[in-house]
Amino acid sequence: MSCCNVRGGRQYYSIISIVLLLLAFVSPLKCLAKRHELELDLPISSYKPHSKTFNVFLYGATGDGTTDDSKAFKAAWKAACLVPRATVEIPSGFTFLTKPITLEGPCMPQLILQIDGTLVAPPAVAKSKRLQWINIKWLHDFTLQGSGSVDGQGFVLWNSSEIHHIEKETKDESSVRPTILRFYKCYNVTIHGIQIINSPQCHLKFDNSIGIIIRNISISSPKDSPNTDGIHLQNTYDVEVKHSDIGCGDDCVSIQTGCSNVHIHHIRCSPSHGISVGGLGRGNSLACVSNISVENILVQNALSGVRIKTWQGGIGSVKNVSFSNVRVDHVDTPIVIDQYYCNKKWCRNKTDAVAISEVMYRGISGTYSFEPVHIACSDSMPCTGVALEDIKLSLVNETEDRREAFCWNSYGESQGLLQPSSVGCLERTTKTIKALTKSHNDSCY
Ligand SMILES: *[C@@H]1O[C@H](CO)[C@@H](O)[C@H](O)[C@H]1NC(C)=O
Ligand SMILES: *[C@@H]1O[C@H](CO)[C@@H](O)[C@H](O)[C@H]1NC(C)=O
Ligand SMILES: *[C@@H]1O[C@H](CO)[C@@H](O)[C@H](O)[C@H]1NC(C)=O
Ligand SMILES: *[C@@H]1O[C@H](CO)[C@@H](O)[C@H](O)[C@H]1NC(C)=O
Ligand SMILES: *[C@@H]1O[C@H](CO)[C@@H](O)[C@H](O)[C@H]1NC(C)=O
Ligand SMILES: *[C@@H]1O[C@H](CO)[C@@H](O)[C@H](O)[C@H]1NC(C)=O
Ligand SMILES: *[C@@H]1O[C@H](CO)[C@@H](O)[C@H](O)[C@H]1NC(C)=O
Ligand SMILES: *[C@@H]1O[C@H](CO)[C@@H](O)[C@H](O)[C@H]1NC(C)=O
Repeated sequence: MSCCNVRGGRQYYSIISIVLLLLAFVSPLKCLAKRHELELDLPISSYKPHSKTFNVFLYGATGDGTTDDSKAFKAAWKAACLVPRATVEIPSGFTFLTKPITLEGPCMPQLILQIDGTLVAPPAVAKSKRLQWINIKWLHDFTLQGSGSVDGQGFVLWNSSEIHHIEKETKDESSVRPTILRFYKCYNVTIHGIQIINSPQCHLKFDNSIGIIIRNISISSPKDSPNTDGIHLQNTYDVEVKHSDIGCGDDCVSIQTGCSNVHIHHIRCSPSHGISVGGLGRGNSLACVSNISVENILVQNALSGVRIKTWQGGIGSVKNVSFSNVRVDHVDTPIVIDQYYCNKKWCRNKTDAVAISEVMYRGISGTYSFEPVHIACSDSMPCTGVALEDIKLSLVNETEDRREAFCWNSYGESQGLLQPSSVGCLERTTKTIKALTKSHNDSCY
């Protein structure tokens, strides 16, 4: 796993702890502690000075929606960064236009970015060939919150023939349009309340980060906006996404290589391509994903419900993934494992494959419009330990073109209610399969 620099993070954290400790000793809290000896044993984080607010208007922002306010944002950020428990305030009732901006740490702990107003990208940001519009990096113990919204103005390119032209030239569709909000090497981040809309590409992306909580946010872009993932995770672990509403033109939540311990629950994805692990192993690369749990979600008006996709030729593994209590409503194919993922008419079959094992589907119900289950595993590397339990799927429109459930080289158990009956298509595990998977070189651990 090409994962995060945990050691560097810890060093920094201990420096902050020492600074906080010093602060605690020169403060009035010291006297308090003397009177109540026991309170000295409280964790340092219980020491809370009055939080300090850094309003962007005090740093020269105009809030008129046309003047570039990025200098004011940076100035407010720099000042707040030096103060523990500070808040950078983007007030409600105003629209702030900012160019691509980097908000970076290290900062004092418990910094809050309070977005109550509206942030808009210049429409040209979609064409800027930047990777991100708002780039947040190297922060620990940070909160992004508020009742405001962040608007990426992505529509400039969604419909344009220009985008296809640029993509043809660069041969990489993801390199030309920015993500709205990207977090890099951040630890212990909470995001709540805000609305993220109209991204040129991903809405919210995490790279090489640990300890992320996302709750009560809303993400919205049209169904036909290309490559607009809702939440995109890579090399990131210990993530919880809950109580949020996501609508976009691509994956609702996309889980890429290097992710582990991701818990997604009580969210609605509508419209979208559903929850997706992968595509993994592109260009014969190593992919490692494990301990993913998705439960109590609603996927509506989507291409797929819950999906794992890998390219031919990758190595590594996807292990211990569970999808439970998933409601689907007008979803083309609710359950998908596709080890033949390909962005062209066809891709060459290869002998290497990202191994998939221990994938559980329990309580998947609702309506589909094309194929209830599609589990297509690699010829050389079958999927093992797949479980299908209590699946109740019905066709939206009986007269539509449709397919029966499909399983290929996939081993495991089906039990409980299975509707339609073709869903019970897994093969029982055999000794030959065990021998095959054992010889697999799993470079993940
Ligand atoms: C969720 O966020 C919205 C918008 O900021 C806010 O009005 C609402 O109170 C929040 N709900 C909870 C339960 O936090
Ligand atoms: C993140 O939070 C956890 C749990 O509160 C804590 O143990 C850990 O030290 C924190 N890490 C950083 C880098 O702040
Ligand atoms: C693209 O343009 C068409 C026609 O003007 C419109 O109906 C559609 O909603 C647009 N799509 C996006 C993603 O903006
Ligand atoms: C997955 O969970 C198991 C059991 O809790 C744990 O031993 C393992 O280290 C986890 N995997 C990763 C990559 O964190
Ligand atoms: C599987 O992942 C879950 C978290 O999603 C974890 O609690 C459990 O211990 C893991 N099991 C194994 C066998 O690694
Ligand atoms: C790859 O293998 C699958 C499964 O055996 C087969 O259906 C498909 O036609 C093959 N594709 C190519 C391009 O050979
Ligand atoms: C069902 O399919 C028929 C034939 O394709 C079509 O005429 C009808 O509008 C469809 N009904 C719904 C509810 O989609
Ligand atoms: C497993 O694959 C990795 C990466 O290709 C390679 O470095 C390693 O030597 C292989 N290990 C074995 C035992 O084949």
